[in-house]
Amino acid sequence: MRSEQPKTVYLKDYRAPDYLIDETHLTFELFEDHTLVHAQLVMRRNPAAGSGLPPLVLDGQQLELLSLAVDDVPLGEGDYQLGDSHLTLQPPRDEFVIDSSVRIHPESNTALEGLYKSSGMFCTQCEAEGFRKITFYLDRPDVMSKFTTTLSAVQKDYPVLLSNGNPIASGQEEDGRHWATWQDPFMKPAYLFALVAGDLWCIEDSFRTMSGRDVALRIYVEPENIGKLQHGMDSLKKSMKWDEEVYGREYDLDIFMIVAVNDFNMGAMENKGLNIFNSSCVLAHPETATDAAHQRVEAVVAHEYFHNWSGNRVTCRDWFQLSLKEGFTVFRDAEFSADMNSRTVKRIEDVAFLRTQQFAEDGGPMAHPVRPDAYMEISNFYTLTIYEKGAEVLRMIHTLLGAEAFRQGSDLYFDRHDGQAVTCDDFIKAMEDASGVDLAQFKRWYTQSGTPRLAVEEAYDPVAHTYSLTFRQSCPPTPGQEHKEPFVIPVAMGLLDAHGNELPLRLAGEDAADGTSRVLAVSAAEQRFTFVDVAHKPLPSLLRGFSAPVKLSFPYSRDQLMFLMQHDSDGFNRWEAGQQLSVQVLQELVDQHQRDEALSLDPRLIAALRSVLADESLDAAMVAEMLSLPAEAYLAELSEVADVDAIHAAREFARREISRELFDLLWARYQTCREASRTTPYAADAAQIARRSLQNIALSYLALAASDEVVDVCEEQFEHADNMTERLAALAVLVNSPFEAEKANALAKFADYFKDDALVMDQWFSVQAGSPLPGGLERVEALMHHPAFTLKNPNKVRALIGAFANQNHVNFHRLDGAGYRFLADQVIALNALNPQIASRLLTPLTRWRKFDSARQALMRGELERILASGELSSDVFEVVSKSLA
Ligand code: ARG
Ligand code: ZN
Repeated sequence: MRSEQPKTVYLKDYRAPDYLIDETHLTFELFEDHTLVHAQLVMRRNPAAGSGLPPLVLDGQQLELLSLAVDDVPLGEGDYQLGDSHLTLQPPRDEFVIDSSVRIHPESNTALEGLYKSSGMFCTQCEAEGFRKITFYLDRPDVMSKFTTTLSAVQKDYPVLLSNGNPIASGQEEDGRHWATWQDPFMKPAYLFALVAGDLWCIEDSFRTMSGRDVALRIYVEPENIGKLQHGMDSLKKSMKWDEEVYGREYDLDIFMIVAVNDFNMGAMENKGLNIFNSSCVLAHPETATDAAHQRVEAVVAHEYFHNWSGNRVTCRDWFQLSLKEGFTVFRDAEFSADMNSRTVKRIEDVAFLRTQQFAEDGGPMAHPVRPDAYMEISNFYTLTIYEKGAEVLRMIHTLLGAEAFRQGSDLYFDRHDGQAVTCDDFIKAMEDASGVDLAQFKRWYTQSGTPRLAVEEAYDPVAHTYSLTFRQSCPPTPGQEHKEPFVIPVAMGLLDAHGNELPLRLAGEDAADGTSRVLAVSAAEQRFTFVDVAHKPLPSLLRGFSAPVKLSFPYSRDQLMFLMQHDSDGFNRWEAGQQLSVQVLQELVDQHQRDEALSLDPRLIAALRSVLADESLDAAMVAEMLSLPAEAYLAELSEVADVDAIHAAREFARREISRELFDLLWARYQTCREASRTTPYAADAAQIARRSLQNIALSYLALAASDEVVDVCEEQFEHADNMTERLAALAVLVNSPFEAEKANALAKFADYFKDDALVMDQWFSVQAGSPLPGGLERVEALMHHPAFTLKNPNKVRALIGAFANQNHVNFHRLDGAGYRFLADQVIALNALNPQIASRLLTPLTRWRKFDSARQALMRGELERILASGELSSDVFEVVSKSLA
């Protein structure tokens, strides 16, 4: 908690550290009611920072200082200054050793930052600035040190003692305590430090690296979850292989460990050699985790593993450069997932997420560039912009340079900067040097916030046989950025003739045609590309694979979109054509609703979906994606003013019409899929995942018919499925149905069966929190009192409160403001317990500008109430004050 307004930190104020820490020797004595931390720091003046001996200012928060010595000389109170967040002293000379002892209280740390306890085990989360809650230190990523860590605890309660690097010694003491010493040979910043102590079991495996070294692999977990680790281990081995093959990156220690913990603010953390994971991102078993959860585990395991190079071996100079490691690593894990599964489906999922969530952030009060230039609380900047848009920026570089030059740039970057803390500029420079491509203008993607608009106009000259596309780009103002300069926007595209064939593409001035799909680099505010030898007016396929994170508009007719859905050679754009068609049709229904007219659905949408559903040759995963109407949140994002009720009514009407018109086809496909599920044992492979997604979306449409035969199949699937993917989908369908008895029965059975499995209960909470049926808020309020719920566990908060506020628009945005009041109450309660979670939970309220004036006033009122509620954490203060500005 702060007592005064938090300060803003600016990139322009960056200065190299005055001192360096060559070696860090830590000793932890872990007790039930406190922990003692002794730190010995071998320090010297940073030669790159100037002359003289400035005061040494160490970071430290919530530390009880027990002793302090410099070069073995104890310091008295007059020899240093101790404030709320710093310890200042005068070094005696260029090289010196600091010894400090502090007492901390992991047992009462509910913020889950620094050293804390989760389900009886000790663990750490130091990124970004948690290490300063462990000991006095230069807690900044450009101070890299060699760490040696000794930890001791009561052996019977904490048989496993882990830290970064390799184990070098261990032993027992007489009083039942034992200790272990770990040494990490690689220099690292403090944010990559980790320790774990607990009663843990592990599974073990090994990986032979490309140079023939054997690496021991271990995943640790509480004993009862030991059966849920195989998928994570398989994912880890695949990741290690992929990074060798695609990026030439080899693992560097003799051991790689993952520990699963139940209470964790984010997904996982890439601590050197000792990744710590939210259990939701590493545990998976067919009976308790859905296909989506399996895929998430695979992606997060890969993400954290890939950080070993993109983040750890080469790290960030300062936190403004966060996307240097996060954007790059998300791009790397997305490509890994694309290689392991269906590339097109992965891209569809990522783009849908980006356009719904990141575009909303980019259009809201917290909009910031991929490389921000100011922040109050760095924890607030672990955002969709840093991660997902950052990954899109890397993807654009990959697209513009081509795979080969991109790889050379990546090799050069890792070679040149191994062991260093660097900036986004250093990364770009390596890409430029390796490829010869000038990225000066491209770098605006790092400095300008907001989502660019790209309006495209076509012109065909039937006499000259030329076809031109004119691109006009603009970017709306964002906080602190009124005016934007043009971006470099790579537009992957092709042209289709009337039969759906791809035309060879030759731009005016070129000697010959070059392929049928190419990338136009749009770099001016207005720019025209003219194709020659075009015998008939073509239909353009634009932004293939979503080659840039922009809002592209082209005046397609609905018939043209249906044509693209069938013929585009780019799978992503076939889906995108269907989405655009759905958006047009749904917006028409929204208009009808707003004018109080009877709703009437354009039959072309039904026709398009009928042919998708009838085409047995299409990949089932694609059929499922095509059948999914754009989410309410996406329709809201596209609206100037989001009419929550009209959007919900329109989408539900369309779903019922689809169900009615296509019932027989849906029924047939459902039965085929379910029959296959009944007769084949579960596997989380691409073909089965595809089949189950088709089966489940078909079931959700069928259920809208509310007939007895559908309830029967729903209950059959719920009762007899051998996996969580089918069981949970059936439960969700029942929860959203009018069959009260069947619903209550299924919910009770599920909770009874899975009451001891926290991750499954999270899903049980989410399914109910997301149900748009009336009375949603009251259901959520009742569930807050369920014995399995607690505000102290971030997964529970996300599963119940987060799911309600983010995915249940009709209930959350109730016109009486009760949904907003509920969320604000939870934010206020969490502000004191866990500021990071409180601040994230606030997000839906920050979007108030999207809604009608009545809702705007209610949402603002709640933001103001939070602001006035007392001592706010810097996390919550920053988001609330910026949202009201
Ligand atoms: N670096 C982690 C990742 O893999 C994120 C951890 C950040 N945690 C936090 N509490 N800010 O993305
Ligand atoms: Zn990351």
